Amino acid sequence: MRRVAVVGAQWGDEGKGKVVNYFARDFDWIVRFAGGANAGHTIYVHDRKYVNHLLPCIVPDGPGRGFLGAGMVVDLGQLVNELEALAADFPGVGAKFAVDPEVFLVLPWHKQQDILLEKMRAEPIGTTGRGIGPAYTDKASREGVKLCHLFDEQMLQERLANSWHMKQILYQGQLTMPPDEVAAELIGLRDRLMKLGVQFTSAVDMGKVFRSTSVLFEGAQGVLLDLDFGTFPFVTSGSCMAHGVSSVGFSTFELDDVAGVLKAYTTRVGAGPFPTEEDSLLTQGIRERGKEYGATTGRPRRVGWLDLPALRYAAIRSGLTSLVITKADVLNGLETVKVCTGYRIDGAVRDIPSTSHDFFVAEPVYEELPGWPSTSHVNFLKYMTFIEEQVHVPITYISYGPKTDEMETKSGLIMSM
Ligand code: GDP
Ligand code: IMO
Ligand code: MG
Repeated sequence: MRRVAVVGAQWGDEGKGKVVNYFARDFDWIVRFAGGANAGHTIYVHDRKYVNHLLPCIVPDGPGRGFLGAGMVVDLGQLVNELEALAADFPGVGAKFAVDPEVFLVLPWHKQQDILLEKMRAEPIGTTGRGIGPAYTDKASREGVKLCHLFDEQMLQERLANSWHMKQILYQGQLTMPPDEVAAELIGLRDRLMKLGVQFTSAVDMGKVFRSTSVLFEGAQGVLLDLDFGTFPFVTSGSCMAHGVSSVGFSTFELDDVAGVLKAYTTRVGAGPFPTEEDSLLTQGIRERGKEYGATTGRPRRVGWLDLPALRYAAIRSGLTSLVITKADVLNGLETVKVCTGYRIDGAVRDIPSTSHDFFVAEPVYEELPGWPSTSHVNFLKYMTFIEEQVHVPITYISYGPKTDEMETKSGLIMSM
């Protein structure tokens, strides 16, 4: 039974949603294992655009089903909104999803804290404001509630009251939604999810099912935003790596493939180091052609060139076994394309950064390659070959447009040249 993980190899928004949705037709289960509604995964179903923040990118009218794993932090209001919007087009689609009762809940006050903390920071991170940091913080410090607590209302009330008591002291009364209101809202959302047909099933109960079916793991964000290995402190608070599948009871040794998704260039939304960033008429053009505006917050994404040291770092950190390249079409028509091949750090040129701090001090060293009029041109093949030789990971698929079927195996693309 095939098991594949799809993870972001850059700073997120590489096109993971589209790639997962393309692969999804061949899998029984599509599993999100980390992050929350900070993610924005864009897919097209019958030419209609959907942005999934929490829902795995299943094919809504296909056979595959979606699972939300325990490594996620879930805003139930957002989940209900997404499901109701999808169910309006695909009646009964809610029954295609199951949520692990161990998921940690993002509460209204986590979102308030997120905004307040950003205001207090000397150097704001540029978070999505979705309460992600405060929710993961509460989970690690053992406050707050999991989905399973909604089935024990007394425990729910107690845990919320205790958390509220501490937060009122820490935040000097700035948080506004008292625990009894939060509890009532959560119970209401629980009931709406049940009405939509969503199942609450733990990874333990799913163990046999997952091991006898094919599973596609959908990563969120990208390796360089990972809490442990990303460009700390300008990172998210969850795991963005393939080993996040452990929260669903799998080991990376059980994966047949860890596919790293990368754009043919690089983008970043939010603050933090970005060695190959360029703000020029050329990259502004890339932003417009690539519609590089955040799927969650609408913020313009920062744009830069492909960064091979960062990719090599991502490949090692996340154990990538294949690469999927997206948005090469956006570079169509450029005379030349710049690629960063090394980082100059303390006077020496290095192939790969050894620590996250290196990203803050690196000066990019570039090579310039000839551009391509379309992705079926030989210069694009040369670009791909260059990436493979430099990163030592094979490219398997190429995406050349936002629609699901605008994707091709590398060998298929070469045959059509
Ligand atoms: P994700 O977070 O990794 O799923 O990526 P996002 O959905 O946030 O951002 C990727 C954007 O690029 C979306 O608007 C996609 O529709 C679009 N996209 C994905 N693949 C391609 C591609 O190959 N070419 C073009 N032009 N757009 C793409
Ligand atoms: P997908 O899954 C791009 C960024 C935010 C900010 C930092 C911390 O769509 O690729 P957070 O709200 O998580 O505390 O913000 O991480 N960020 C993303 N950037 N794509 C994402 O997800 C992101 N999720 C978080 O912009 O810089
Ligand atoms: Mg996104």
